[in-house]
Amino acid sequence: MEIIIQPDSQQASQVAARIVARLIREKPHAVLGLATGNTPLQLYRNLVRMHREEELDFSGLTCFTLDEYVGLPPAHPSSLHSYLWAHLFSQINLPKERINIPDGQTPDIPAACRKYEQAIRSAGGFDVQVLGIGKNGHIGYNEPSSSLSSRTRIKTLTAETRLEVAAAFGGLDAVPAHVITMGLGTIMDARMCLLLAFGQKKAKAVAQAVEGPVTAMVPASVLQMHPRALVVLDMDAASGLDMADYYIWVQDNKPDWQKY
Ligand code: PGA
Repeated sequence: MEIIIQPDSQQASQVAARIVARLIREKPHAVLGLATGNTPLQLYRNLVRMHREEELDFSGLTCFTLDEYVGLPPAHPSSLHSYLWAHLFSQINLPKERINIPDGQTPDIPAACRKYEQAIRSAGGFDVQVLGIGKNGHIGYNEPSSSLSSRTRIKTLTAETRLEVAAAFGGLDAVPAHVITMGLGTIMDARMCLLLAFGQKKAKAVAQAVEGPVTAMVPASVLQMHPRALVVLDMDAASGLDMADYYIWVQDNKPDWQKY
Protein backbone atom coordinates (compact mmCIF):
# COMPACT_ATOMS: atom_id res chain seq x y z
CA MET A 1 0.00 0.00 0.00
CA GLU A 2 1.11 3.52 -0.61
CA ILE A 3 -0.04 5.92 2.08
CA ILE A 4 -0.28 9.58 1.05
CA ILE A 5 -0.92 11.93 3.98
CA GLN A 6 -1.87 15.53 3.23
CA PRO A 7 -2.49 18.46 5.61
CA ASP A 8 -6.24 18.57 4.88
CA SER A 9 -8.96 16.99 2.79
CA GLN A 10 -8.78 19.73 0.19
CA GLN A 11 -5.13 19.08 -0.58
CA ALA A 12 -5.68 15.32 -0.39
CA SER A 13 -8.51 15.61 -2.92
CA GLN A 14 -6.26 17.62 -5.22
CA VAL A 15 -3.65 14.86 -5.11
CA ALA A 16 -6.35 12.26 -5.84
CA ALA A 17 -7.64 14.38 -8.75
CA ARG A 18 -4.13 14.64 -10.20
CA ILE A 19 -3.77 10.86 -10.02
CA VAL A 20 -7.09 10.27 -11.80
CA ALA A 21 -6.49 13.07 -14.34
CA ARG A 22 -3.06 11.72 -15.22
CA LEU A 23 -4.59 8.29 -15.82
CA ILE A 24 -7.32 9.78 -18.04
CA ARG A 25 -4.77 11.75 -20.09
CA GLU A 26 -2.52 8.71 -20.48
CA LYS A 27 -5.40 6.36 -21.27
CA PRO A 28 -8.36 8.23 -22.80
CA HIS A 29 -10.42 5.01 -22.94
CA ALA A 30 -9.85 4.14 -19.30
CA VAL A 31 -12.47 2.36 -17.19
CA LEU A 32 -13.24 3.98 -13.84
CA GLY A 33 -15.02 2.58 -10.81
CA LEU A 34 -16.58 5.32 -8.71
CA ALA A 35 -17.61 5.64 -5.08
CA THR A 36 -20.29 7.87 -3.59
CA GLY A 37 -20.56 9.44 -0.12
CA ASN A 38 -19.12 12.66 1.27
CA THR A 39 -15.51 11.65 0.86
CA PRO A 40 -15.06 11.81 -2.94
CA LEU A 41 -17.08 15.03 -3.37
CA GLN A 42 -14.01 17.27 -3.52
CA LEU A 43 -12.27 14.86 -5.87
CA TYR A 44 -15.24 15.06 -8.26
CA ARG A 45 -15.34 18.86 -7.92
CA ASN A 46 -11.67 18.98 -8.90
CA LEU A 47 -12.26 16.72 -11.90
CA VAL A 48 -15.16 18.91 -13.06
CA ARG A 49 -12.95 21.99 -12.72
CA MET A 50 -10.18 20.28 -14.70
CA HIS A 51 -12.73 19.43 -17.39
CA ARG A 52 -13.82 23.09 -17.61
CA GLU A 53 -10.46 24.78 -17.22
CA GLU A 54 -7.84 22.27 -18.32
CA GLU A 55 -9.60 20.38 -21.12
CA LEU A 56 -9.69 17.11 -19.21
CA ASP A 57 -11.64 14.93 -21.63
CA PHE A 58 -14.02 12.26 -20.34
CA SER A 59 -15.51 11.41 -23.74
CA GLY A 60 -13.65 8.10 -24.14
CA LEU A 61 -14.14 6.76 -20.63
CA THR A 62 -16.41 4.08 -19.26
CA CYS A 63 -17.63 4.39 -15.66
CA PHE A 64 -19.19 1.98 -13.22
CA THR A 65 -20.50 2.92 -9.80
CA LEU A 66 -19.81 0.74 -6.81
CA ASP A 67 -23.29 0.30 -5.46
CA GLU A 68 -26.96 1.24 -5.34
CA TYR A 69 -29.79 0.89 -2.82
CA VAL A 70 -32.27 -1.88 -3.53
CA GLY A 71 -35.76 -0.59 -4.21
CA LEU A 72 -34.89 3.02 -4.96
CA PRO A 73 -35.80 4.45 -8.34
CA PRO A 74 -32.83 6.17 -10.03
CA ALA A 75 -34.51 9.57 -9.64
CA HIS A 76 -34.85 9.25 -5.85
CA PRO A 77 -32.82 12.11 -4.32
CA SER A 78 -30.87 9.70 -2.09
CA SER A 79 -30.11 7.15 -4.79
CA LEU A 80 -26.47 6.75 -5.67
CA HIS A 81 -27.55 7.28 -9.27
CA SER A 82 -28.77 10.80 -8.35
CA TYR A 83 -25.59 11.49 -6.40
CA LEU A 84 -23.27 10.69 -9.28
CA TRP A 85 -25.34 12.54 -11.84
CA ALA A 86 -25.52 15.62 -9.62
CA HIS A 87 -21.87 15.74 -8.63
CA LEU A 88 -20.11 14.40 -11.69
CA PHE A 89 -21.87 12.96 -14.72
CA SER A 90 -24.04 16.00 -15.50
CA GLN A 91 -20.96 18.23 -15.50
CA ILE A 92 -18.52 16.33 -17.71
CA ASN A 93 -18.57 15.06 -21.30
CA LEU A 94 -18.95 11.38 -20.49
CA PRO A 95 -21.38 9.68 -22.91
CA LYS A 96 -24.48 8.44 -21.14
CA GLU A 97 -24.24 4.99 -22.74
CA ARG A 98 -20.93 4.36 -20.99
CA ILE A 99 -22.24 5.12 -17.50
CA ASN A 100 -23.11 1.96 -15.58
CA ILE A 101 -25.02 1.99 -12.30
CA PRO A 102 -26.57 -1.07 -10.64
CA ASP A 103 -30.33 -1.14 -11.09
CA GLY A 104 -31.80 -1.03 -7.59
CA GLN A 105 -35.23 -1.86 -8.95
CA THR A 106 -34.37 -4.92 -10.97
CA PRO A 107 -36.85 -7.79 -10.49
CA ASP A 108 -33.97 -10.32 -10.68
CA ILE A 109 -31.07 -9.18 -8.50
CA PRO A 110 -28.74 -12.17 -9.02
CA ALA A 111 -29.12 -11.88 -12.81
CA ALA A 112 -28.53 -8.11 -12.70
CA CYS A 113 -25.38 -8.67 -10.58
CA ARG A 114 -24.04 -11.24 -13.02
CA LYS A 115 -24.73 -8.83 -15.89
CA TYR A 116 -22.89 -6.03 -14.05
CA GLU A 117 -19.84 -8.24 -13.56
CA GLN A 118 -19.98 -9.23 -17.23
CA ALA A 119 -20.19 -5.58 -18.30
CA ILE A 120 -17.11 -4.75 -16.19
CA ARG A 121 -15.22 -7.64 -17.81
CA SER A 122 -16.35 -6.65 -21.32
CA ALA A 123 -15.17 -3.10 -20.72
CA GLY A 124 -11.70 -4.46 -19.90
CA GLY A 125 -11.77 -4.15 -16.09
CA PHE A 126 -11.05 -1.09 -13.98
CA ASP A 127 -8.00 1.07 -14.49
CA VAL A 128 -8.84 2.75 -11.22
CA GLN A 129 -11.39 2.08 -8.55
CA VAL A 130 -12.13 5.09 -6.33
CA LEU A 131 -13.11 4.10 -2.78
CA GLY A 132 -14.24 5.64 0.48
CA ILE A 133 -14.17 3.72 3.76
CA GLY A 134 -16.91 3.33 6.33
CA LYS A 135 -16.31 3.74 10.05
CA ASN A 136 -16.69 -0.03 10.23
CA GLY A 137 -14.08 -0.58 7.53
CA HIS A 138 -16.46 -1.28 4.65
CA ILE A 139 -15.53 -0.44 1.06
CA GLY A 140 -18.37 -0.25 -1.37
CA TYR A 141 -21.13 -1.62 0.82
CA ASN A 142 -19.12 -4.72 1.71
CA GLU A 143 -19.95 -4.78 5.38
CA PRO A 144 -17.77 -6.60 7.95
CA SER A 145 -17.88 -10.37 7.43
CA SER A 146 -18.06 -9.96 3.62
CA SER A 147 -16.12 -12.60 1.74
CA LEU A 148 -12.76 -11.23 0.67
CA SER A 149 -13.39 -12.74 -2.77
CA SER A 150 -17.02 -11.64 -3.13
CA ARG A 151 -18.45 -10.40 -6.44
CA THR A 152 -21.31 -7.99 -7.18
CA ARG A 153 -24.31 -9.12 -5.12
CA ILE A 154 -27.01 -8.07 -2.69
CA LYS A 155 -25.84 -7.09 0.81
CA THR A 156 -27.75 -6.25 3.94
CA LEU A 157 -26.61 -3.00 5.56
CA THR A 158 -25.53 -2.99 9.20
CA ALA A 159 -27.51 -0.95 11.72
CA GLU A 160 -24.47 1.35 12.05
CA THR A 161 -24.32 2.04 8.31
CA ARG A 162 -28.07 2.66 8.10
CA LEU A 163 -27.74 5.20 10.94
CA GLU A 164 -24.86 6.92 9.13
CA VAL A 165 -27.01 7.60 6.07
CA ALA A 166 -30.33 8.13 7.86
CA ALA A 167 -30.21 11.93 7.64
CA ALA A 168 -30.03 11.79 3.84
CA PHE A 169 -33.21 9.72 3.82
CA GLY A 170 -35.07 11.91 6.32
CA GLY A 171 -34.99 9.21 9.00
CA LEU A 172 -33.84 5.67 9.72
CA ASP A 173 -37.11 4.02 8.70
CA ALA A 174 -36.69 5.23 5.13
CA VAL A 175 -33.19 3.75 4.71
CA PRO A 176 -33.28 0.60 2.56
CA ALA A 177 -32.15 -2.60 4.23
CA HIS A 178 -30.38 -3.85 1.13
CA VAL A 179 -27.95 -2.70 -1.50
CA ILE A 180 -26.37 -4.07 -4.63
CA THR A 181 -22.61 -3.65 -4.27
CA MET A 182 -19.53 -4.72 -6.16
CA GLY A 183 -17.74 -7.36 -4.15
CA LEU A 184 -14.29 -7.24 -2.62
CA GLY A 185 -13.08 -9.58 -5.37
CA THR A 186 -14.52 -7.20 -7.98
CA ILE A 187 -12.70 -4.27 -6.37
CA MET A 188 -9.46 -6.24 -6.07
CA ASP A 189 -9.47 -6.89 -9.82
CA ALA A 190 -8.97 -3.15 -10.48
CA ARG A 191 -5.50 -2.31 -11.74
CA MET A 192 -5.32 0.52 -9.18
CA CYS A 193 -7.36 1.19 -6.05
CA LEU A 194 -7.55 4.76 -4.78
CA LEU A 195 -8.98 4.91 -1.28
CA LEU A 196 -9.72 8.30 0.28
CA ALA A 197 -10.48 8.94 3.94
CA PHE A 198 -10.86 12.21 5.80
CA GLY A 199 -11.59 13.18 9.37
CA GLN A 200 -11.04 11.81 12.84
CA LYS A 201 -14.05 9.54 12.62
CA LYS A 202 -12.24 7.44 10.00
CA ALA A 203 -8.92 7.17 11.92
CA LYS A 204 -9.65 3.83 13.57
CA ALA A 205 -10.92 2.15 10.40
CA VAL A 206 -7.93 3.48 8.45
CA ALA A 207 -5.45 2.21 11.06
CA GLN A 208 -7.10 -1.21 11.09
CA ALA A 209 -7.25 -1.41 7.30
CA VAL A 210 -3.65 -0.27 6.72
CA GLU A 211 -1.74 -1.63 9.71
CA GLY A 212 -3.99 -4.33 11.14
CA PRO A 213 -4.44 -7.93 10.04
CA VAL A 214 -6.20 -8.76 6.79
CA THR A 215 -9.63 -9.81 7.92
CA ALA A 216 -13.19 -9.94 6.64
CA MET A 217 -14.10 -8.00 9.79
CA VAL A 218 -12.32 -4.96 8.27
CA PRO A 219 -13.15 -5.35 4.59
CA ALA A 220 -10.80 -2.54 3.46
CA SER A 221 -7.87 -4.53 4.88
CA VAL A 222 -8.07 -6.76 1.78
CA LEU A 223 -6.36 -3.86 -0.05
CA GLN A 224 -3.13 -4.93 1.68
CA MET A 225 -3.15 -7.76 -0.87
CA HIS A 226 -3.56 -5.38 -3.81
CA PRO A 227 -0.43 -4.66 -5.88
CA ARG A 228 -1.32 -0.98 -6.34
CA ALA A 229 -3.48 0.45 -3.59
CA LEU A 230 -3.08 4.16 -2.89
CA VAL A 231 -4.53 5.47 0.37
CA VAL A 232 -4.95 9.25 0.42
CA LEU A 233 -5.61 10.72 3.86
CA ASP A 234 -5.85 13.99 5.70
CA MET A 235 -3.98 14.36 9.01
CA ASP A 236 -7.03 13.46 11.08
CA ALA A 237 -7.75 10.23 9.23
CA ALA A 238 -4.04 9.35 9.50
CA SER A 239 -3.88 10.06 13.23
CA GLY A 240 -4.19 6.38 14.28
CA LEU A 241 -1.34 5.14 12.09
CA ASP A 242 1.76 3.91 13.94
CA MET A 243 4.01 4.51 10.93
CA ALA A 244 2.63 7.89 9.81
CA ASP A 245 6.06 9.54 10.09
CA TYR A 246 7.52 6.94 7.76
CA TYR A 247 4.72 7.35 5.18
CA ILE A 248 5.26 11.13 5.17
CA TRP A 249 9.02 10.66 4.82
CA VAL A 250 8.47 8.31 1.88
CA GLN A 251 6.35 10.91 0.06
CA ASP A 252 8.80 13.73 0.84
CA ASN A 253 11.69 11.73 -0.57
CA LYS A 254 10.18 10.41 -3.78
CA PRO A 255 12.18 10.84 -6.93
CA ASP A 256 10.61 13.46 -9.21
CA TRP A 257 9.26 10.87 -11.66
CA GLN A 258 7.29 9.19 -8.86
CA LYS A 259 5.65 12.34 -7.52
CA TYR A 260 1.91 12.97 -7.86
P1 PGA B 1 -18.58 8.85 3.51
O1 PGA B 1 -18.93 7.30 3.40
O2 PGA B 1 -17.68 9.15 2.36
O3 PGA B 1 -19.89 9.54 3.37
O4 PGA B 1 -17.91 9.05 4.83
C1 PGA B 1 -17.90 6.40 3.14
C2 PGA B 1 -18.45 5.00 3.17
O5 PGA B 1 -19.32 4.70 3.99
O6 PGA B 1 -17.98 4.19 2.36
